[in-house]
Formats: sequence, C-alpha cells, structure tokens
Amino acid sequence: MNAPENLFAGAEPHVMKTYGRLPMALSHGRGCWVWDTEGKKYLDGLAGIAVNTLGHAHPKLVPALQDQIGKLIHCSNYYLVPLQEQLAAKLCQLSGLTNAFFCNSGLEANEAALKLARKFGHDKGIERPEIVVYEAAFHGRSIATLSATGNAKVQAGFGPLVEGFVRVPLNDAAAIENLAHGHPNIVAVFLEVIQGEGGVRPATIEYLREVRRICDERGWLLMLDEVQCGMGRTGKWFAHQWAGIVPDVMPLAKGLGSGVPIGAVLCGPKAAGVFGPGNHGTTFGGNPLAMRAGVETLRIMEEDGLLENAARVGAALRRGLEEGLAGVAGVAEIRGQGLMIGIELARPCSALLGRAAEAGLMLSVTAERVIRLVPPLILSEDEARQMVAILVPLILDFLAEPQ
Ligand SMILES: Cc1ncc(COP(=O)(O)O)c(C=O)c1O
Repeated sequence: MNAPENLFAGAEPHVMKTYGRLPMALSHGRGCWVWDTEGKKYLDGLAGIAVNTLGHAHPKLVPALQDQIGKLIHCSNYYLVPLQEQLAAKLCQLSGLTNAFFCNSGLEANEAALKLARKFGHDKGIERPEIVVYEAAFHGRSIATLSATGNAKVQAGFGPLVEGFVRVPLNDAAAIENLAHGHPNIVAVFLEVIQGEGGVRPATIEYLREVRRICDERGWLLMLDEVQCGMGRTGKWFAHQWAGIVPDVMPLAKGLGSGVPIGAVLCGPKAAGVFGPGNHGTTFGGNPLAMRAGVETLRIMEEDGLLENAARVGAALRRGLEEGLAGVAGVAEIRGQGLMIGIELARPCSALLGRAAEAGLMLSVTAERVIRLVPPLILSEDEARQMVAILVPLILDFLAEPQ
C-alpha cells in the first residue's frame, strides 16, 4: 500500500527550518541502496546518520515489525512489557551491565544518564554535583545535553546553559587529574568513545583505561555515550570493548532499533539502583514496537555475523580510501574504526554533501571538514568498493579547485 497522496501541502513550507536540507526526497530503499522520488538510485553511506543498522527493508526485520504492529504498538509503562525484559536481558548480556532504562532517542538516553549522575551525587550528600565533559563532544540538543556538548554553535542562543559541567580535552588523562584537585563535587565522567559530530575522533584505548582507573579510584561514574559509535558499528558490540573496560552507565540509541526510534541507558551495579519509582519516566519509552525492533535487530546482527562484517568491510573500505587518497595534499587524516570512518580534509567541505548525492552517494560532513561514512552494517565488500570509486574522484576534484 502506498502512502496517501499529499492532501495538505500548500505553496508555503510549514516545516520549521531547523535543517539545511538538500532539495530531494527519498521514497524507498533496499539493502544499502535508496531511491529518490525521481527514481534516482543512491548508495547509502549515511544510514540515516548511523541508524539503519540493517539497511533498508531488511527481509527478516520487516515481517517481524509487521507482526508486532498487528499485535501491540504501545501500551504505556503502567504495565509489564515483556519485550522490555527481553531486550534488557540481551543488552546486559552483550555489555556486561545489569539493568536498562528505555527511552526514544539519543538525547533522552543522555538526559537520563545526566539525571542519574546528579542523583548518584545527591545520594552521597553532594548537593551541587559536577560532571566532567569534553571539548568537541556532542550529546544532543535538549538544554542539558547541549550544555554538555562542547560546540559553541550548538549552544549559541540558548543560554543560560545548565550548570554543573566541567570540560576537558580528549585523550589527556592529566587534565582530569588536575581538574579533580579543585573540584571535590565531581561525580561522573561523560564521554563518547568515538566523537561522532566532533569529527570522528576516537578516545585512545590507553586513555579509556586511564579514565576507568581514575573513576574507580575516586568513586565517580564512568558514563560512555555510545549513541553513535555503539551497536556493532566498530566491529564490537560497543566501541569501549576494544579497550577491555566496562562503563557504569552507557546511553544507546540510533542503530539499536534499525530505524525505529529508540533509546536506552544501560547501568552496572554502581548506578543501577540510583533511580527508583517516580525518579524518571517517559510515555513512549520501552513501547512494544521499539522493543521488538531492538530485539530483532540484535538477533539478526548475531545470525548474520554483522560485527565481523562491520570489521572486515570497514577495514576494506578504509584501505580503499587510503589507497585512493595516498599522498594527496589536502587530505589531513583518515580515521575511525569498522564502519565509522572520517576523512579529514584540510579545508571545509560541506559542499561535498550535495556533490556526493549528485554522484549517487549518501554521506555527511561533520565538524566542517570531516567527511563521515557510517553505512548500514550489512554493507558488502563490493559495495564498499563502489563507495570508494564514487568518493575518491569527488574528493580529488574538490581539492583540485582553487579555494
Ligand atoms: C554521540 C551522540 N550522542 C547523542 C546524540 C543525540 O541523539 P538524538 O539525535 O537521537 O537525540 C547524537 C546524535 O548525533 C550523538 O551522535
């Protein structure tokens, strides 16, 4: 069945202009390919910004969601929701954590984590708790999460910001130790394992281990925002697992529902008991449709070996880019892990978004000069080769232009 013909559209746009959009609309997709309403086909290197884990119209996911929609979409958290238990148990098994709270998006997961950290402090008698956050971080666009975000553009116009954050540079453990001396009220450290919007910038393995050690020594919560880098994208279920550490709190969202809106906060023993009845909640969070999407996404990822695929195809994609761009002046760095890759150019390159679309490739540009590839985790090596074949000439042509 097709969507109803647009009965309400007038000449004037009524959707608020919160995004600079390309003048095109997608109509449908299959696997790692999408088509626009004019019939043009694109290779999807964006996955709806690291969301469509299983690509589009996945033959196992679609019937499962249809089944769930025919049974129960939403019922509220006044009742037990068995699918919540099922998804929580699986996520805990994969992460080594013990409990989950479900919500609907990345910022909501982070908002819950920030509230939890504050209450963790209050429960210890700290009335004005502080949370360590990072330069170039991105945690969302609610007032609290944009205050935690380290980007002046995201914050501009929305003051007064929420207080209680202290900021450090990434990958500098001494900066946290120094900060700790003057800030006895710190209760948590909150960071992305790979900064996504900040330009695909990874925390190093050594740094993650150091921060874990500092948090243990000082009784702080280690809270890892894996909203973008988690859910198998780097080749492990969660990006911090490359460092062999376990956080106390981990917000998730994006890829967890393979396109169905969902968020989750996973907690370990230090944090799991902080919220009690009445401390936090959401109408939609944990609804059966989103939970089924999460359960099925994880099941299909396991059945189809998508962690291994993300690692192998990600490495092939990166190799192809490195070979195609080797020695090119104007390419500053290619970095990332698995199917989360950033190509940093020496100059702003947001123009590449539209040019890539013209050439049949979806991608994004973050932090002004970083081309970001976060394709579905089902990407094949052949599709990775096609991606390289489209993208490398685009970058070379762009860099050949006078500035
Ligand atoms: C690391 C990280 N945290 C939080 C968010 C916010 O997620 P949402 O847009 O679902 O609110 C994002 C979104 O890009 C993100 O990359």
